[in-house]
Amino acid sequence: MVKSDLAIFAVFYQKCLVFATFSSFMIAKILCERGTLMKYITITKLDVSDYVNQYDVLVCQVRPSRIKAKQWAAMEISSVLAKLDPIFITNTPIGDIQGLIAFFVPKGKDITLRDLLNHVGYCNKFYKLNFNVKQRQIPTDNLKSINPYTWKGLPFIPIDFFTIDEETFEAHSVMNRVFAVYQQDFTVKYIKGYRGDGSETGRRALPLEDARLMANLALPLKIKRLLDPFAGGGGIIHAAKCVNEDLHLISADVDRTVEPGLKLYATQHHTCDARELKLDEPIDAIVTEVPFSMAYTDIIIEAICYLAKYLTSDGRLILMCHRDQFLLISTALTGLFPVYYRELDRKGTPITISYWTKDKAFYEATKGYATALREFI
Ligand SMILES: C[S@@+](CC[C@H](N)C(=O)[O-])C[C@H]1O[C@@H](n2cnc3c(N)ncnc32)[C@H](O)[C@@H]1O
Repeated sequence: MVKSDLAIFAVFYQKCLVFATFSSFMIAKILCERGTLMKYITITKLDVSDYVNQYDVLVCQVRPSRIKAKQWAAMEISSVLAKLDPIFITNTPIGDIQGLIAFFVPKGKDITLRDLLNHVGYCNKFYKLNFNVKQRQIPTDNLKSINPYTWKGLPFIPIDFFTIDEETFEAHSVMNRVFAVYQQDFTVKYIKGYRGDGSETGRRALPLEDARLMANLALPLKIKRLLDPFAGGGGIIHAAKCVNEDLHLISADVDRTVEPGLKLYATQHHTCDARELKLDEPIDAIVTEVPFSMAYTDIIIEAICYLAKYLTSDGRLILMCHRDQFLLISTALTGLFPVYYRELDRKGTPITISYWTKDKAFYEATKGYATALREFI
């Protein structure tokens, strides 16, 4: 290449770089404004002081029953706190204690923080780290580290911040909330502890931890309309309603037995096959736990592919299915991008929770966060 060609190429290359940087900046800016950009950081000795001066460090304790799913716990907190623009810290302080995840959160937002954290499913105790160790504050008894309390050379004391009230939590669980079902003579029976009939499709007792996690991933405080097309005992619909009473909640289930209960929880209920559900407006999220039987996989694929057409351009799908179903569902889904998925063990059954988006820009912008989660152990 002659010198002038080189100069032209250099200018062109520089313009491309500027354009690419500007485009990713604009996408990040739009997602930030929408409050959906998931941020993460790995802290070093060099930047720790800057960050702790600017932010509070929130440490969240994952419930013992969900300790193997702390990646989902992290994504749930990022979603629940979205409007505060939290930053997930990939190298958690007090790393020797199992089941902790940490975030930078803005200072001076404690009331909002507690309000939001109150609806979390996978974590139940929250702490803040006080780096101003000369200040008189009582360190918590709950985070007992074998190591001195320092993070990247900075001393701190962990302080109790908020604990989810277990009695209130339990009151919302399958065992304690009131549901209603049709009996054989079509009279309505109000019951606590409705768990379905244990048949292939009649297992209807999604634990509250999972119902909250899945509802929270759909950003119930931000969106307007959420659908559960395989709603069963209404765990997901109930959890979403607890976060936002004003959310337009649509449920569907092919079994008429659960109709009175779902009419209690949802804004709008349809007793029909999910593949035939007709909606009159677009929806922002589909959140559902499908029957885990492989015999239902084709029906599920057909239903999700059909219902995904109702999703808005930045709509989400949060899906819990059997691991073997997931392999087939994920190859069949078109027009939706997999933000994150992870296999979990539910009392010996391998299940997969997956998070899909219709918004390619969001998918691209979340790739780094998803990789950080995959590497987070
Ligand atoms: C695993 S249960 C959902 C449990 C629910 N998440 C809960 O918390 O109770 C799956 C539900 O899908 C329903 N179902 C099965 N086939 C269906 C179909 N084709 N369309 C709509 N619902 C269907 C079953 O009746 C069952 O209630």
